[in-house]
Amino acid sequence: MRVFIAGATGVLGRALVRRFRAAGHEVFGLARSEKNEQLLRELGAEPRPGDLFDPEALARAASGCSVVIHAATAIPTAVKTRPADWALNDRIRREGTSALIAAAGQVGARIFLFQSIVWVARPADGLPFDEEAPQTREPLTESAVDGERIVQSAGAQTGIAVGVLRCGLFYSPEAASTRHFGRELLRRRLPVVGRGDARWSMIHVDDAAGAFLAVATAGLNGLWHVVDDEPVSVGELLTSFAARLGAPPPRRVPKWLARLVAGEAAVRFMTSSIVTSNRRLRQATGWTPRYPTYHEGLEQVVAAWRTEGFLPN
Ligand SMILES: NC(=O)c1ccc[n+]([C@@H]2O[C@H](COP(=O)([O-])OP(=O)(O)OC[C@H]3O[C@@H](n4cnc5c(N)ncnc54)[C@H](OP(=O)(O)O)[C@@H]3O)[C@@H](O)[C@H]2O)c1
Repeated sequence: MRVFIAGATGVLGRALVRRFRAAGHEVFGLARSEKNEQLLRELGAEPRPGDLFDPEALARAASGCSVVIHAATAIPTAVKTRPADWALNDRIRREGTSALIAAAGQVGARIFLFQSIVWVARPADGLPFDEEAPQTREPLTESAVDGERIVQSAGAQTGIAVGVLRCGLFYSPEAASTRHFGRELLRRRLPVVGRGDARWSMIHVDDAAGAFLAVATAGLNGLWHVVDDEPVSVGELLTSFAARLGAPPPRRVPKWLARLVAGEAAVRFMTSSIVTSNRRLRQATGWTPRYPTYHEGLEQVVAAWRTEGFLPN
């Protein structure tokens, strides 16, 4: 397959390039700078210049490709964010998505894959949910809901197969959020908030990339939740991560105190469950995660950090 990836230089994008290349496919990546062109060449992809907000350049960049993947985001990495910090991400999810699927249509692509997030269907009560659950409209996730609608309606009009892959909570040695957790656990500055009993469905970024490969290979139209096999409680996750890092166990702080220090949004994130399953994805594509639970995944993260020198040996 000839595969075009917007966001190829990001955390997920780099994993996608590696995974599609390893499976023998030709990969073309959108690059916005010379530095990123070089990075893509090193990963074995051919850089194509352009920007998601430049529709003409996008169609040139995607020409000749039968698979088009949207893996671009601009998610703020700060702990405390204001609504304005999310504006660029919202624009990428709405305007960028419209431009990219239009480009996919122009170049005659067979399948378009859209990276979404499981948060778009999280029920308020924190109970387990699946792909049939109704979408919820929250300020930080509604542009992802719009992105899903944009690609699904364009697919229905043009006949391009559209795969929406809603990913769980990403982690990997390279992800900014995982590195932040690791650093803060080592300094004993990332506490368990409240009872620590909220549960999260996580996904190692390499396994998320494997799910995109599985759906592209199967050429399927549909919507899937991309998560590992076992949701984990936040208390258990942080305690086990700290132990693997050789850090002291995380402190426990009440919600009211955490709110004062980190703000309401961060506390809500750390104390809300997001529990779903990969059953439908496995059945449709035969995909299986290399890191079925956080145990294997964190083992890989910590080993990679030791090799890199991010952690003392
Ligand atoms: N499900 C989840 O938990 C989830 C989902 C997404 C992200 N995250 C977290 O958020 C952080 C970001 O990860 P990520 O890989 O998604 O993002 P990232 O590493 O920041 O990469 C974003 C990608 O989007 C590209 N991009 C941004 N604006 C663009 C535009 N206007 N036109 C074309 N390309 C554009 C970037 O290109 P440039 O290199 O040119 O900037 C880059 O390739 C990570 O730490 C990750 O853990 C989590």
